Amino acid sequence: MTTLTTAAGAPVADNQNSLTAGPRGPVLMQDFHLIEKLAHFNRERIPERVVHAKGAGAYGVFRVTRDVTPHTKASFLSAIGKETEVFLRFSTVGGEKGSADADRDPRGFALKFYTEDGNYDLVGNNTPVFFIRDPLKFPDFIHTQKRNPATNLKDPTAVWDFFSLSPETMHQLTILFSDRGTPRGYRHMDGFSSHTFSWINAADERFWVKYHFKTRQGIENFTAEQAARMAGIDPDHATRDLFAAIADGDFPAWTVSVQIMPELEAERYAINPFDLTKVWPHADYPLVEIGELALNRNPENYFAEVEQSAFSPASVVPGISFSPDKMLQGRLFAYADAHRYRLGANHGHLPVNRPHATEARNYQRDGAMRFDGNGGGRPNYEPNSFGGPTQDPSKAEPPLRISGDAGRYDHREGNDDYAQAGALFRLIGAEAQARLMGNIAGSLGQAPAAIQQRQLRHFLAADPAYGHGVAQRLGVTIESAIAAE
Ligand code: HEM
Repeated sequence: MTTLTTAAGAPVADNQNSLTAGPRGPVLMQDFHLIEKLAHFNRERIPERVVHAKGAGAYGVFRVTRDVTPHTKASFLSAIGKETEVFLRFSTVGGEKGSADADRDPRGFALKFYTEDGNYDLVGNNTPVFFIRDPLKFPDFIHTQKRNPATNLKDPTAVWDFFSLSPETMHQLTILFSDRGTPRGYRHMDGFSSHTFSWINAADERFWVKYHFKTRQGIENFTAEQAARMAGIDPDHATRDLFAAIADGDFPAWTVSVQIMPELEAERYAINPFDLTKVWPHADYPLVEIGELALNRNPENYFAEVEQSAFSPASVVPGISFSPDKMLQGRLFAYADAHRYRLGANHGHLPVNRPHATEARNYQRDGAMRFDGNGGGRPNYEPNSFGGPTQDPSKAEPPLRISGDAGRYDHREGNDDYAQAGALFRLIGAEAQARLMGNIAGSLGQAPAAIQQRQLRHFLAADPAYGHGVAQRLGVTIESAIAAE
């Protein structure tokens, strides 16, 4: 039998009865054990993630299956068969930490590769595109997905007000209201980097890449009715499903592919390859299979490993870098900032976040909750004469070709927000179209008539059958001025 102790390690003689003045009396201040217990309990909660608060995670392994050295010198991708430990956190986006896994929402797909060159975070979603293309709009957009400031209720008026005033949302909202907006579980969906990233090879040539993770369990989705039922029966169904599968040895796996675009083709390609609201059609840039990913180990403690996990798109390794995508640039700031707020300045030292295949060697010192040796007596400045870590110019990234006059350019000018949304609508077939339009009408129908009309204009522009189909399900006539456009 082990003895219960205080946080300081002193044995506790009684964990059932507070120290009181007489059997009925008030408790005494000197009951330090009681005070410590209550005080620690009061501090159990940390801020939940401002988005993607509800999630589940697991460890696994990534294995290279193709020689990609012509395109990247990333060491973890350097040889066929090479394996790298990973941690993957799935999530929903808009709901709070206790919200239902089955809610209609994109799903997060945040992957940490523990490489020998440091951790590489690929912080993606289960959709290849996103709602907006300028990071300046992210807080506005997310406010519409969260709760109304007065009623504290989810607010379809805000959702459709923003969508209808932001036509670049058309592609992603078509995915969101399709069957893929309600995956049957985390194992049954794909993952995407969504953004374009750089791959850089040993000759310092740059390529633009997009990552795709295809589920080997097969895509499976709920209908809206099934999702609503599951949210009631088991709000944690996707968390439960992932944990149970891994505990049973039924390890979920994904095939990993990339689309690759030579650097200079970006200037000639008809689509802006850095626009997060667009995909690169596979006919132009086919999927190149490069590896496989399997999850094979559950966390031992949810708070320590999943809640405290921290992913940042800014965490890249030599051979991999960023792109001019405005949204990605905004995210490069946002995540580490969120981690400092949510977890503190030393979040990188937490076991789930620190490098596993190498170690961090730098001159950062002190700060709240510095729980390792804090660099001991080694120098805390650089340059120094005592053998401290120094820069390695061989790891430098080649110059990034950028140009242009600084200005606030209208990101909607010359951008077709409808073609890919319309193409997706036509691709999914009549039955899925009917469910898509029914799901939209169920939500849009809760917004005021003027907003409905403004949104119908966008559906019409994507495909006339899309516009008329939603209007019919709303039981409204499309205003003639709009229909004539
Ligand atoms: C989480 C910001 C766009 C995927 C977060 C968090 C912030 C954030 C602050 C919480 C981080 C934390 O507390 O650990 C932003 C901003 C965006 C943006 C400012 C746009 C400018 C995106 C996009 C994707 C994405 C486009 C996917 C392609 C995720 C995922 C998480 C997340 C998966 C959860 C990470 C985890 O599991 O810990 N985002 N986000 N976000 N975001 Fe974004």
